[in-house]
Amino acid sequence: MEASFDKVAVNYDSTFTNSEIGKLQRNSVYKQLSKQLDSIQNVLEINCGTGEDAIWFAKQNYNVTATDISPKMIEVAKSKANLNFKTADINSIASIFESEKFDLIFSNFGGLNCLSKSELEKFFVNGDSILSEKGKLALVIMPKNTLWEQFYFLAKARFSSIFRRKKEFVLADVDGEKVATYYYNPKDIVNLAEANFEIVATKPIGFFVPPSYLEPFFKNKKGLLGFLNSFENRIKNWQFLSKYADHYIIILQKR
Ligand SMILES: C[S@@+](CC[C@H](N)C(=O)[O-])C[C@H]1O[C@@H](n2cnc3c(N)ncnc32)[C@H](O)[C@@H]1O
Repeated sequence: MEASFDKVAVNYDSTFTNSEIGKLQRNSVYKQLSKQLDSIQNVLEINCGTGEDAIWFAKQNYNVTATDISPKMIEVAKSKANLNFKTADINSIASIFESEKFDLIFSNFGGLNCLSKSELEKFFVNGDSILSEKGKLALVIMPKNTLWEQFYFLAKARFSSIFRRKKEFVLADVDGEKVATYYYNPKDIVNLAEANFEIVATKPIGFFVPPSYLEPFFKNKKGLLGFLNSFENRIKNWQFLSKYADHYIIILQKR
């Protein structure tokens, strides 16, 4: 796993973070996340990639520890900011941070889609153990029913791929690297987390704004992307669209 993301780390910001689609989707995440930050001080970011969100938190004076399994991603993050970046596997957070308490654990853009169902189930127990009382999880996850993706494969006549996200896992293409990816709808997350967490909110991210692999098509169509983003803003609180979007953000609070 770390090897796959190590290989894409150097180009990750140019292919995703700084892409037009990446910027719009990240802004949508920030709009929803900002509503959840009252009484938050200590943030643990898991699967932080190149550190973009850790920098966002730090600029607002949150105390952030940001982790990723890929040493190369952490190397890129460290080159961007002098923050508390650390190489760590999500599956080991309970032991790595056993003597710490966080008010928020944040996971952006599908890091948790790299976990199998049994690993994800353990994540909710482990996350609970290092959260403060009434601490929160803010998780941005890829669902199974993304409409953009279904239209994309239909248009390409790749009929066997249209419902690929419904398989147990898929070897997804991440900048040329094959990464085992597990898709979860909001309901799957609630089922796995409900013993430890109650649900606060679920919102779509990228229902009208397309997946980032369509960046080459949209690169020179900023007007169209802006138009789609204006629709995105109108539906941003329509929870029922979450499972049809490219990602969704789900906020859970410790019981
Ligand atoms: C699509 S990238 C998202 C990066 C970043 N959160 C962002 O918003 O751009 C997924 C990240 O998850 C990390 N990852 C995958 N499996 C992981 C694991 N088991 N533990 C920690 N990080 C993991 C990868 O190394 C990669 O940096």
